[in-house]
Amino acid sequence: MKVFTTFAFGAFFFASSASAFPIVRRKEVVEAGKVVMMNNNTQNDDKKVLGGNKAGALYFITNENDGNFVVSADIGDDGKLGLRQAISTGGAGVHGNDGNKNNPGPLFSAGSVQVSAASKMLATVNSGSNTLSLFSIDEQDPAVLTRVGSTVGSGGEFPVSVAFNSKGDKLCALNGGEVNGVSCFKVDKENGLTPLSGTNRALGLNQTTPATGAPGSASQLIFSEDDKQLITSIKGIPGGNATNGRGTVGALAIFEVADDGSLSKDFKVVAPPEKGLAPFGMAIVPNKTTIIAVADPAVGLDVFDLSQVEQGANKSVATAIDKQQAVGWIVRSPTTENFLLSDFVTGLVTEVKVGDDLKGSVVSETDLGSDSGTIDNAVATVKGKDFLYVMSSKAKAIDVLALDKTAKPSKIQRQDLAEAAKAAQLTISSANLSGLAAFVKA
Ligand SMILES: *[C@@H]1O[C@H](CO)[C@@H](O)[C@H](O)[C@H]1NC(C)=O
Ligand SMILES: *[C@@H]1O[C@H](CO)[C@@H](O)[C@H](O)[C@H]1NC(C)=O
Ligand SMILES: *[C@@H]1O[C@H](CO)[C@@H](O)[C@H](O)[C@H]1NC(C)=O
Ligand SMILES: *[C@@H]1O[C@H](CO)[C@@H](O)[C@H](O)[C@H]1NC(C)=O
Ligand SMILES: *[C@@H]1O[C@H](CO)[C@@H](O)[C@H](O)[C@H]1NC(C)=O
Ligand SMILES: *[C@@H]1O[C@H](CO)[C@@H](O)[C@H](O)[C@H]1NC(C)=O
Repeated sequence: MKVFTTFAFGAFFFASSASAFPIVRRKEVVEAGKVVMMNNNTQNDDKKVLGGNKAGALYFITNENDGNFVVSADIGDDGKLGLRQAISTGGAGVHGNDGNKNNPGPLFSAGSVQVSAASKMLATVNSGSNTLSLFSIDEQDPAVLTRVGSTVGSGGEFPVSVAFNSKGDKLCALNGGEVNGVSCFKVDKENGLTPLSGTNRALGLNQTTPATGAPGSASQLIFSEDDKQLITSIKGIPGGNATNGRGTVGALAIFEVADDGSLSKDFKVVAPPEKGLAPFGMAIVPNKTTIIAVADPAVGLDVFDLSQVEQGANKSVATAIDKQQAVGWIVRSPTTENFLLSDFVTGLVTEVKVGDDLKGSVVSETDLGSDSGTIDNAVATVKGKDFLYVMSSKAKAIDVLALDKTAKPSKIQRQDLAEAAKAAQLTISSANLSGLAAFVKA
């Protein structure tokens, strides 16, 4: 494997990639597939939710150590949520080591739950068991999940993020613990996940299990739009003497995906633009296969053009988000074509437009309250209109905002989670809630 050469990567150390998936610690807790109802509605039919017609579903994980559950909510055609059920993954969650602060965002990551619209599957991490779980989504009644196959080892420790390819027949996982790197799996609707050979690749981060962070930890994993690159984001560590006092700079680490599905043994390291430091959540700019927008809590937003990375060149631009303190999660709204970022310290949702010159400009700002603990976000397009969902972990709630190309986002609902969880005897906590993904019926 290649050693980092371009920058001072003090947080990384050299590690050789294993040819077989490494032996790691595993843990099974609540039996997989156990369903707990999150409401007492008699009309949990497959068509209606609240006052309207059912349009889709939203999912997140509890990430608790005594048992991880995927919680689902129905999405109505007005964009609003109705909590539906929780299903156990068969694995455990864990909170990363942040010096006992127990901050929101337990995995220091984005993408801990993902869905594939193409294959109608949902995958998630069990960060405390070092496993992954796969479910199929009922197309008619998407809040209903069915477990597929057994939990499988994630190929490392402290899995924090997963990504489906565009067909949804392959899943890759990012491990952020002591044994860190990426691993990919075949997604089979009957048999579940099977490890793919030539895909277990080490990143060589100097990390612990669970990971120590948020600085210096692995953030997210995404496929490029053409599925030919697997892109990971890794946060730097501010301060210290590295890079002229700027700190240890984080990076994107990019693996090439070969035609046979195997990953390049080495990865390309792309540093963020000057002022950028800690690449966190990522979102693709569609139809520009190589441009990605990355939330960076050191500055706000980094936008990368990766089209010339193979030739050793790269282009990136940082955009400062003035009031930001801990921007970490980013999602793109297909209808407004803008990006929405959440900041767990300020509780501000910032809407940013990215130009062809890679520069961002702030379009709007919506205050969800600094006591909200806003982390993961997701967008659903329902009848041509986009809705933004934000996990407000300290408030134990999901905020719903209606997006509009010509107006500021408007808050249309705050769906409480605490009361239903209590009634259902499901453990949830502000510190451990993680992930957000949406599925919309065809
Ligand atoms: C969150 O998870 C950790 C274990 O990772 C656990 O110790 C803790 O009790 C959980 N809940 C809270 C509120 O921290
Ligand atoms: C790894 O991190 C530990 C703890 O921060 C540090 O003591 C050690 O020197 C680091 N090792 C390398 C090779 O950077
Ligand atoms: C930074 O550099 C100064 C001066 O060379 C040195 O005294 C100090 O120990 C260094 N700090 C770290 C964290 O390496
Ligand atoms: C990226 O671009 C910068 C400035 O053009 C250059 O210094 C650096 O070596 C390039 N490569 C990587 C891998 O970041
Ligand atoms: C992007 O490409 C898709 C098809 O690949 C097309 O439907 C869509 O209109 C394109 N969007 C833009 C903004 O060009
Ligand atoms: C459903 O109703 C039963 C009986 O009243 C109650 O014990 C339970 O907590 C309720 N569950 C939810 C999720 O509201």
